Amino acid sequence: MSVSLIIGGQWGDEGKAKIIDYLARDADYVVRYQGGANAGHTVVVDGKRFAFHLLPSGLLYPKVTCLLGGGMVIDPIALSKEIDGVVAEGIEVKGRILISEQAHLVLPYHVLVDGASEAKLGARSIGTTRKGIAPAYTDKASRRGVRVGDFLRSRSELEQLLTQKIREGNKALRQLGASPLPVGKTVAELLRVKKRLEPMITDTRLTLWSALDKKKDILLEGAQGSLLDIDHGTFPYVTSSNPTVGGAIVGTGLPAHALGRVIGIFKAYCTRVGNGPFPTEDVRKKGDQIRKLGGEYGTTTGRARRCGWFDAVAARTVVRLNGITDVALTKLDVLDTFDDIKVCTSYRCGKKRLEYFPNDVRALERCKPHYEVMPGWKETTNRADRAELPAKAAAYVGFLEELIGCRIDLVSLGPDRNAMIRFSSRRDRGGSGVPLTGDLPG
Ligand code: IMP
Repeated sequence: MSVSLIIGGQWGDEGKAKIIDYLARDADYVVRYQGGANAGHTVVVDGKRFAFHLLPSGLLYPKVTCLLGGGMVIDPIALSKEIDGVVAEGIEVKGRILISEQAHLVLPYHVLVDGASEAKLGARSIGTTRKGIAPAYTDKASRRGVRVGDFLRSRSELEQLLTQKIREGNKALRQLGASPLPVGKTVAELLRVKKRLEPMITDTRLTLWSALDKKKDILLEGAQGSLLDIDHGTFPYVTSSNPTVGGAIVGTGLPAHALGRVIGIFKAYCTRVGNGPFPTEDVRKKGDQIRKLGGEYGTTTGRARRCGWFDAVAARTVVRLNGITDVALTKLDVLDTFDDIKVCTSYRCGKKRLEYFPNDVRALERCKPHYEVMPGWKETTNRADRAELPAKAAAYVGFLEELIGCRIDLVSLGPDRNAMIRFSSRRDRGGSGVPLTGDLPG
């Protein structure tokens, strides 16, 4: 298949970048399609850590062209700095980064408005990354936003547009009780980075359509996770874009029928950053242990992630929602030392037993997870000569496959590029999802 899509199966931070890095060695194009600098995609090569926020993770392979698709919101100052960072690492970027004209700009006031709005909400805050994501998508939806393509206007026209937008942004900042931005200085900074980015701006749809015609390999890199999707996630505790399959179509301009594999990335346990319901969260010792062993601290914000057990109710919903054809399971090695491992197989909500994730957060907050306990394998899975998993670890992975109704194809056993094995014991299991049984929410 020439187009493969990588989707986060949980609340983000599933280790997508490592799988993208693994698959990108065969790709011609790696494409981000939604979100912005709220993402933090980490790839470790020979012990060296690369963290991408706006740039697609495929940049480490010289033959890959990286596209920032039209569904993204792009902070041009942050992007320019990120490009400086990779250039300083000796990575050649010339001709390898293309930015969609359709993507919207995250302007400096969006970032400040995000922070000020969150501060104002206090205990009711969403816990955003404060990267300006919601304010930029708000401007897009209300047709006030500035697009990357606007950087191609004449200098005087652009200067006028940016001055007007910064003034409007300052009004919003004053209303929130925050300090306004210096207009002239901010516009000058934006004009400086626009000069840098200008040669990379293009109609990336045409690039992708031509790549399709030539049967090139295209990898679509989702950011965040399905449970943070603005439509399908735990609204309002979500991001402002569609990390799910629909977002990939809208955010690239590729036709739906072009999609081949839809690869869902799931961690062997669950984490969440920010506020919102998390049924399998373990706020006690074992949750702390997972955090410590898994290094569960945000790449973008450094925040400690909330940790808990694998939630098969959420995962099987995500498999159905995205039409996931195969799964990569990450960070299995983090569970190596546990005596026993809990897996949530269904929810109890009042008198109902739910096998699918309810849409309404109030219903979700009332759900109690039903757990099955698997024996831990108490053995290091992350070993260079490892070709197969220890029997109990394989049983755990097989149990997850059964619960979510999808083949688990790859298992990642550590941060390094090579710490990965193919899991093939159940190759006959397709990606059709689990039939709807049990009670329906509502
Ligand atoms: P925003 O995307 O910055 O507006 O944040 C909205 C919610 O999504 C918050 O709960 C964030 O913690 C969460 N979020 C945003 N991006 C990521 C990510 O890349 N990984 C995990 N959580 C994220």
